[in-house]
Amino acid sequence: MPRPARPEKVHYSSCRKEPTQPQSESKIGFAQRAFASTATVNGIPVEVHNESGSKRVVVTKSLPGDRWLQYLVNADCRVEVCKHTDIILSNATIKQLLGTKCDGVIGQLTEDWGAELFEALRQAGGKAYSNYAVGYNNVKVQEATKRGIPVGNTPGVLTETTAELAAALTLAAARRVVEADTFMRGGHYKGWLPSLFVGQLLQNKTVGIIGAGRIGAAYARMMVEGHKMNLVYYDPYPNKQLEEYIRLYGELLRHRGEPPVAARRVETVEEVLQEADVVSLHCNLDDSTRHLINSQRLALMKKDAVLVNAARGPCIDEVALVAHLKANPDFRCGLDVFEDEPAMKPGLADCPNAVIVPHIASASMWTRSGMATLAAANVAGVLSGFPVWNKIDILPFVEKPMASVPQASPSIVNAKELGLKLVADA
Ligand code: DGY
Repeated sequence: MPRPARPEKVHYSSCRKEPTQPQSESKIGFAQRAFASTATVNGIPVEVHNESGSKRVVVTKSLPGDRWLQYLVNADCRVEVCKHTDIILSNATIKQLLGTKCDGVIGQLTEDWGAELFEALRQAGGKAYSNYAVGYNNVKVQEATKRGIPVGNTPGVLTETTAELAAALTLAAARRVVEADTFMRGGHYKGWLPSLFVGQLLQNKTVGIIGAGRIGAAYARMMVEGHKMNLVYYDPYPNKQLEEYIRLYGELLRHRGEPPVAARRVETVEEVLQEADVVSLHCNLDDSTRHLINSQRLALMKKDAVLVNAARGPCIDEVALVAHLKANPDFRCGLDVFEDEPAMKPGLADCPNAVIVPHIASASMWTRSGMATLAAANVAGVLSGFPVWNKIDILPFVEKPMASVPQASPSIVNAKELGLKLVADA
């Protein structure tokens, strides 16, 4: 195996660490290859794994778990993990990291993967990019396609984790958990009162979702089953499985002599907003969903409704939301994402009726390490010339012993445009 060309101005320190990988499942001599050393690439510190790998893969942030690295090492990749202290890397820094030879990249949703970076990657000989995220609104896929670069994402491991956080935001907002916590910590609790932090009961009310894909449907089931809520949803495509699930659950409740629940798809976003007591957004961000929730639509919602967003910040006009929260103290929201992340629009942080968390919907260890595994398997699969998986169930990549994982890239969003081979045709 030829040794890879070293990136320019890479200086290796003598620092060695203990192996970071389990050695038992390795197809290759993991024990010898998984030691990490430190180096600098054009002045940027990196942690290097599998120094002698023939393909150079840059990972712009440290990733959780171990399995992801094993995929790349098994594909004979030298892996360089950026240790720059900036949380959001500029294009200039990323270009420095790519250097003059880079075969693949795992990047973050905070990075601007457009013409500039894909051109730098192409010039460095890059053949694969994966976002460490299911959403890829930070990636101009057509710019990658133009340059023949496959783009991966990480679907299938965020579903329940993200839905759980949306449910947590719903409950926290409806029952004023954060306000009450702040009150308690501030030493203001002087004794039980009938009027203290009175919020909304969810049981038997109506939950609305905009976007009934995997995450939206998981959230809907949590709210319907957990709180016996009726569902009203808007999605251009009906989700028959979800409707059937709720119909059967409704039958069960009827059988037990309890009020049944029902699911109904409506033709417009407006109908959801008017009818629902809780509305949760689960749509992708694109031109049709930017400012989907604006002041006119907020005005349609019930005065004491709860609005939840764990999708993408720009789906809500945040200035309009702040004005609405101020004018309607009984209206509440739970936000995981923000229009100008990491910034918040002026006034939002002062609204006691907003529960705000820093984009943590996918932050369970299982999900975050699963995302790393899928991103690495995307890059490793493309660099190994494997076909694209093209199936909904990606868990074999995450859960099977390494020796029996599919020889495929789990999710390449521009596979069709690039004419990549799919597993079914392979
Ligand atoms: C994603 O993967 O798109 C999420 O927003 C990360 O939490």
